[in-house]
Amino acid sequence: MPEQTTRRIPVRSLFRTIFAAAAAVTCGSVAFTPQPVYGQAAEPKTAEQVFQNITQLKGTPADQVMPAMNFISASLGVDCAFCHVQGKPEADDKPQKKTAREMMAMQAMINKESFRGQRQVTCYSCHRGSARPVSMPPITESDAPPKAAAPTTPPPASTATVDSIIEKYVTAVGGAEAMRQVSTRVMKGVIIAGGVATAIDVITKAPNKRITITHNASMTDGHPNDSLTAFDGKAGWMGNTGRPARDMSGPESEASSLDAEFALPLRLKEIFPQLRRGRPEEILGMQCEVLNGSGPGRPTVRLYFDTKSGVLVRMVRYAETPLGRSPTQIDYTDYRAIGSVKIPFQWTLSRTNGRFTIHINEGTENVPVDDAKFAKPM
Ligand code: HEC
Ligand code: HEC
Repeated sequence: MPEQTTRRIPVRSLFRTIFAAAAAVTCGSVAFTPQPVYGQAAEPKTAEQVFQNITQLKGTPADQVMPAMNFISASLGVDCAFCHVQGKPEADDKPQKKTAREMMAMQAMINKESFRGQRQVTCYSCHRGSARPVSMPPITESDAPPKAAAPTTPPPASTATVDSIIEKYVTAVGGAEAMRQVSTRVMKGVIIAGGVATAIDVITKAPNKRITITHNASMTDGHPNDSLTAFDGKAGWMGNTGRPARDMSGPESEASSLDAEFALPLRLKEIFPQLRRGRPEEILGMQCEVLNGSGPGRPTVRLYFDTKSGVLVRMVRYAETPLGRSPTQIDYTDYRAIGSVKIPFQWTLSRTNGRFTIHINEGTENVPVDDAKFAKPM
């Protein structure tokens, strides 16, 4: 993406334009109807309309500021307080914040001058998780002979196609017919974060509704304090019992729309009109087929399918931020059937700033679940 444009034109509208252009090419003369962008108000506010002291991120959508801040923090391996005074993010008291602004301008300049406006260099390219980049190669600290580069074994040739990979996935989880027989799942398990396991309910309903209820041990005013994360079929929201819920930002909602897909194997081609086979890769000791997908109103994804079992074992989705892409990785394991359709009973979601694992202990299918269960509390 051209660096100059990301800073002036809201990234979201730029995406719409790119997707529209791509669709126009593939569909020939067929007019392209833009898809709804999940959870997005008609005119997103810009960063400077919502925040008080924006100079470098002017023109980007306001909901991209936090993802950009997380991207910076992860790139430098620091927390917010490295640049910000607690509770006063608009203040310019810290020299690090001033340096960060200069760095944003520098990054834009490098990409403009040396990479034809493609965002090739980001904070992470130089910083690699440290506030102070190193400018010299390290000296040798042992007298062992220098390590030869690991031999790169070319992935075994494979004749797989997008269709055959998806077909194998559908079959592996029980087949299209079986999948269409299931309309809800009510599951109980635990969410494990920071070594602590907390009881969780995961309730899903076809075609794309989902809520997770985390039963925190702490009480608020004598009431149970549950954390809620939901996608109501159109938009995502988050909240805690007894307090007003908040809408997810556009990118959060788009990511959450994927988690809410009830029969993902059957919907992949529809969700990602641009679905291409990537280079096969080995991850976690498994040889995998790789598909790269993008589509309107959805994050760009990379999907890994175990060539042996055929199931989806990893999804990496990329959130565009004004300064670089932030990855979220979800590893799916322990595929088991509640009835006749296999689903992962465990998944681990990892981001640049943390990770958690959800482990399902038990579940039931086709229990009636009212749509109201997924609606944002008023
Ligand atoms: C390496 C420095 C750096 C780090 C780390 C950092 N920020 Fe920022 N932050 C900035 C800069 C620079 C701006 C101003 C951007 C601009 O001028 O467009 C900013 C702006 C903001 C703003 C807008 C404030 C306003 O009203 O103008 C908020 C809110 C914010 N940061 C929150 C955070 C949070 C939360 C974190 C931690 C997740 C964080 N930042 C980490 C450098 C940093
Ligand atoms: C082309 C390489 C490069 C890129 C890209 C880059 N930096 Fe830097 N940055 C440096 C170097 C080198 C230093 C250290 C300068 C020094 O030691 O005085 C530095 C220092 C900093 C510091 C001061 C650290 C301190 O300890 O005070 C901040 C803050 C910073 N960079 C933020 C950023 C942010 C935010 C981005 C992305 C928008 C970024 N940098 C992109 C090379 C880079």
